[in-house]
Amino acid sequence: MLATEVDRASVEKMVRSFYAMLIKDDLVGPFFTKALGDDLKNDKWYEHFRTLDNFWLMMMTGEKGYMGDPFLPHVFIGKLTEETFARWLELFSKHVHSQFIPEIADKFDKKAEILAKKFMEFLEIGDEFEDDDEY
Ligand code: HEM
Repeated sequence: MLATEVDRASVEKMVRSFYAMLIKDDLVGPFFTKALGDDLKNDKWYEHFRTLDNFWLMMMTGEKGYMGDPFLPHVFIGKLTEETFARWLELFSKHVHSQFIPEIADKFDKKAEILAKKFMEFLEIGDEFEDDDEY
């Protein structure tokens, strides 16, 4: 059944099942397995999941808890391209729509798209270098 609310339980479920699917993708998966390993039960993944739970709760509900810098880790994980981001966004969109009712899934999508665009600007990928909109 599709979740009708964004709360810790629905976000935790979405985050874990998203990465279980993402690491199997031939384009995006290797970035994650290289950084965090391929055992989703290891300590690095545990931390990553906790971080992402807090990150998405903050993005979607404003709940404080995420204290990190979402941009910086992406500088060090290897060469990200427009294609990699497009794949990530496509898989994320499909996944959130399999987890949440459309109104909520669309909001996740929108947040992810805005941030991905920011990441690409930050990483100097593509040719749009505006920095006037907030995420
Ligand atoms: C090309 C697509 C992407 C790839 C391959 C990717 C990969 C990664 C990897 C490997 C990490 C873990 C780094 C580490 O702990 O060593 C990470 C962290 C993270 N990613 Fe991404 N990412 C992508 C896109 C995105 C997008 C679009 C978002 C947000 C909408 C996002 C949000 C985050 C956040 C919040 C963290 C945790 C940062 C922290 O430690 O505070 N990523 N990403």
